[in-house]
Amino acid sequence: MVMVNEKLKKACTREELENVSFLTRAIHYKKQSVSAIIFLFENNGYAYVNICMHMQRPLNCEQHAIFDETGQYLRCSMHGFVFDPKTGECQSPVCLGQRLQALRLQEIDSVFYFAEKHLTLNA
Ligand code: FES
Repeated sequence: MVMVNEKLKKACTREELENVSFLTRAIHYKKQSVSAIIFLFENNGYAYVNICMHMQRPLNCEQHAIFDETGQYLRCSMHGFVFDPKTGECQSPVCLGQRLQALRLQEIDSVFYFAEKHLTLNA
């Protein structure tokens, strides 16, 4: 049994992520109330602040989806900018090289926790 550090905040279980393409969680991060997107990619968990750097919209603002049709790239549903799921780096010319704000996840016993000091969960 691994002791869970009390600074970790539970995001979701691996099982929950296995059943959907992504989840969102309401969080407070660096003085802002935002949502986080959480997903599995190549069997690893990733999380980002759900704000596209293009026009500050959530990636799923127009559609309930954050991946493109190939499943290999994140895609903002507002104007279609695409991102590397592993780094959050934008692949589209206007914002090329800019990154979504990554949130560290830690997995303990098939449960993912946010491992960010300046993050709290919103109800
Ligand atoms: S707001 Fe995301 S692509 Fe424009």
